[in-house]
Amino acid sequence: MTKHNVCDESDIPVGDKKPFKLGDTKLVVYHLQDGFYATQHSCTHLFAPLGKGKIVEDCQIQCPFHRARFDIRSGDVVEWANFPPGVQLLNGLRGEKSLKTYPVSVENGKVMVEL
Ligand code: FES
Repeated sequence: MTKHNVCDESDIPVGDKKPFKLGDTKLVVYHLQDGFYATQHSCTHLFAPLGKGKIVEDCQIQCPFHRARFDIRSGDVVEWANFPPGVQLLNGLRGEKSLKTYPVSVENGKVMVEL
């Protein structure tokens, strides 16, 4: 695992997020009340860009396509795809799957992601 500097601490206000690309890996870095977190960029349902999603309940990312929600800290599914009505018919093919998460630290004001 190698640490990569993605941005300065002040680049992402609390409650916000930003997408990044490190080599071939796309990820989203989130700034929550208790610190920085990172997850994979594409939704595990049908690959929507979570960088365009919404942070809800202070600690969940909601997918912009079918509104699946994931816990940002663990990557766990909180609620699977549920919009528009009927999208659940796909669940046999695209069952619940957690997001990959990456360790994040802040060193001298620099946000570092381990890949
Ligand atoms: S692509 Fe994210 S919920 Fe469908």
